[in-house]
Amino acid sequence: MALTSDTTTSDTPLARKFSSLKSIARVPILDQETPYHTLKNLEIFLTGKESGRLWVKRDDLSAHELGGNKARKLEYLLAQAKKENASELITFGMWGSNHALATAMAAHKLQLPLTLHLGPQPPTPNVKKKLLAMHALGAKLVFHGGQLSLGLSIAQSFLRSLWSKKIFYIPPGGSNALSTLGYVNAFLELQEQLQGKVLPQRIFLPMGTAGTSAGLLLGSCLGGVQDQVQIISVGISHSPLSNGKSVLALARKTYNFIRKNLSPEERARLPQCDLKKNFTYLKEYSAPGYGAAHPAVYEAMDLLHDQEGLILDTTYSGKAFLAMKETVEKEAKRAEEIPSTLFWLTYNSHPLDQIIREFPWKNPEKPYLDLPESFHFIFE
Ligand SMILES: Cc1ncc(COP(=O)(O)O)c(C=O)c1O
Repeated sequence: MALTSDTTTSDTPLARKFSSLKSIARVPILDQETPYHTLKNLEIFLTGKESGRLWVKRDDLSAHELGGNKARKLEYLLAQAKKENASELITFGMWGSNHALATAMAAHKLQLPLTLHLGPQPPTPNVKKKLLAMHALGAKLVFHGGQLSLGLSIAQSFLRSLWSKKIFYIPPGGSNALSTLGYVNAFLELQEQLQGKVLPQRIFLPMGTAGTSAGLLLGSCLGGVQDQVQIISVGISHSPLSNGKSVLALARKTYNFIRKNLSPEERARLPQCDLKKNFTYLKEYSAPGYGAAHPAVYEAMDLLHDQEGLILDTTYSGKAFLAMKETVEKEAKRAEEIPSTLFWLTYNSHPLDQIIREFPWKNPEKPYLDLPESFHFIFE
C-alpha cells in the first residue's frame, strides 16, 4: 500500500480539468489507476457468444490490502483530518463494515487513533474476521446492539466533532461531498483510460451510502458523456436514508462543493448537470436486508469466481452483480444484442489472515476475548 503520512496536492483527472481543485489535498492511498478488462468467459457463459461487451473495472485492486471503493474516499477524508490537525478519527458502520475496516487500516498507517461505532448485522465468519482485524489494527471498537443506539452515537459524535476540532468525524460509509470527489475522479480515470475507445453504455455498481454512485454519476456529467453512460446503482439496504434520492442529493451537493471551489473563470465553464437524466436505482435486490443474501446472490458470486476468478462479497458487490447478470441473461434470452456493460468491482477481497495472525492475542485460541466484552457473544 502506498499510504504515507504526506498529503499531496491533487494531480487527479478532475484537477486536470479544473486546476483550481488542485488545492484540495489528498493523502496518497491509491497504488495505481485501477485496471479494466473484458469478462470474456462470463459473456460466453451468459450470452453464448463473445463480442467484448462485458467489462469490469477493478477497484478491488485500488490499494493492496486497503483496496475497494473506500481507498478513493479516504484519500480526501484523511487529508482533511490532517489539515485540521485532528488527533482522533471517529466513524461508523455495521460489525462487518468494509468502510470501518478500511478506515482502521488507513488510521493504523497514519498512526491516528480511531474509534469505530459498530452496529448489528448477521455474524458470518467474514464479519468475525473483520472485527478481529479492526482490533488488531488498533481501532477502539464500540458495540451497538441496535440501529437506534448506532444512530444516536452518529448524531452525538457529529456534535462532538463540531465542538472539538481534535475529533474528525467521518460519516457512515465515508460518504460526503469531499470524499465523493474520489469517485468523480474514478469516472474520469476510466474515460482517460478509454481514450479513443467507446465508453460502456451502462455501469452496474452497489449502493449503500451513495458516495460511489454519486461520484460516478457526476463524473459522467463533468466528463461530458452523461448521455452515453447509464449509471445503474443497486441498492443494498433500501430505506428512507438509502435510496435513489440519496444518490442524486449527494451528487448535487458535490456539484455545489466543486462549484464553490472553482475560480470565476473555471466556474463559468462548469457544465450544467441534469443528474436524473441517465441514472437508474434498483431497489429490488436489497432483500432480505443488510448483510444477508438470497441463494441467487451466492450462485452469482460463484459464477463470477468460476468464470473469471473474481471475488465478491454478499453484502454489496454480490447483489449488484446478480442484478447485472439477470439483466444480461434476460436480454440474451430475447436474442437482443446486449448493451456494452461494465461492472464496477468495489469489494476488496484481500485476505485478513496475516493481520490477525501477527497480532499478539492474549489467548490465541480465543482471540476475540481481547475485544470489548459486549462483542464476545458474536463469537461464542
Ligand atoms: C464493497 C462495497 N461496495 C459498495 C459499497 C457502497 O458504496 P457507497 O456507500 O459509496 O454507496 C460499499 C460500502 O461500504 C462496499 O463496502
